[in-house]
Amino acid sequence: TKTYNIVVLPGDGIGPEVTAEAARVLELISSKSKDFKIELQSKDFGGAAIDSSGEPLPADTIKACEAADAMLLGAVGGPKWGVGKVRPEQGLLQIRKHFDLYANIRPALFPSKSLLTHSPLKQEIAEGTDMIVVRELVKGLYFGDRQEADLDTPGSKGEAWDQMIYNREDVERITRLAAYLALQSNPPAKIHSIDKANVLACSRLWRRVVTETISKEFPQLEVDHQLVDSAAMVMVSNPKKLNGIVLTENMFGDILSDESSVIPGSLGLLPSASLSGLPDGTSECKGLYEPIHGSAPDIAGQGKANPIGTILSAGMLLRYSLGQPEAGDKVFKAVEKVLDSAEMGGKGLRTADLGGKTSTKEMGQAVLEELEKLL
Ligand code: NAD
Ligand code: IPM
Ligand code: MN
Repeated sequence: TKTYNIVVLPGDGIGPEVTAEAARVLELISSKSKDFKIELQSKDFGGAAIDSSGEPLPADTIKACEAADAMLLGAVGGPKWGVGKVRPEQGLLQIRKHFDLYANIRPALFPSKSLLTHSPLKQEIAEGTDMIVVRELVKGLYFGDRQEADLDTPGSKGEAWDQMIYNREDVERITRLAAYLALQSNPPAKIHSIDKANVLACSRLWRRVVTETISKEFPQLEVDHQLVDSAAMVMVSNPKKLNGIVLTENMFGDILSDESSVIPGSLGLLPSASLSGLPDGTSECKGLYEPIHGSAPDIAGQGKANPIGTILSAGMLLRYSLGQPEAGDKVFKAVEKVLDSAEMGGKGLRTADLGGKTSTKEMGQAVLEELEKLL
């Protein structure tokens, strides 16, 4: 039997609380599977690593990640580390860059239909939404040169800047990834490319390269282009118009993916995968899996964080990094059953972000029980 090694990076705030539940899911799958085993090891990352070693991504953590089949991450950051010189978030950017995890896949899904009643959007507007945000993750404003303002130097200009760079190859590869995902559904999903081409040079490059790549390599796919400001409005007024793949650059994707979580009703629900290539088995592809939310300092340590985004991230890990799509699907199915049971059996399985009283651990336990029935 094959043994897969997963590095767990719990991080800060609610990170350790939510990764603990996702780890239990992977352990259960490992114990029930005849064909493969999963071994988990935890490593310091983010603020926790700054506290123990002075840096957010210690060499020992990178080494373990290099040797691993995939990484499962909670979240990093918090008021304790603030916006000082050494910040937990730098570790996150470093790990994404180190493994060239250029493709961030963030499905804005409804893990369960019963969540429709929790959406702040009217039911008829939210119902039928089906979009995947594909965010370029290792370029753009996040990784250009930057200049901090020298506000404490008397007489200084006090100027700061952040450089945004994209080149053709950056846009081509993320477009191919979006096309790959579009072709997974039948009929193929539509690609909505989002930019700010009426202002930014990077966006004009983006629009042209997306258009060329699709027409040359994927003529069967449909693509349209929208400006990010109005697309953000459409996402919460008529989200079905964006059904399909929402393809965009790093910062727009960061913002739009948080916005997309309003549709199913909570930031705590949505998973993500960050990949270094197409997950089609033709070449080696590294994967980091994390919920799209942050460390939620306002609720950390209270046992009330929603673990579903992280549990579903483990489901994506099974699919994309371990080549175990059936096991991944079962994780999604188990989550759906647990959320639906609130409606059907009146058990009220909702964490606080969805108006319920279920704790992080109880939610994790309920998913384990449903999953056990499916395995
Ligand atoms: P956040 O995502 O941590 O929290 C935003 C709001 O959503 C908060 O009210 C929080 O309580 C709620 N929330 C988030 N996840 C939840 C969950 N699983 N269950 C229930 N409620 C949840 O964003 P923020 O407050 O702007 O950022 C806090 C810190 O997290 C910052 O340091 C930021 O840099 C960091 N951050 C890290 C990541 C990451 O590690 N990938 C992502 C985003 C933010
Ligand atoms: C995310 C986070 C990160 C980002 C931060 C913490 C650097 O918001 O994963 O969405 O902006 O990419
Ligand atoms: Mn974000």
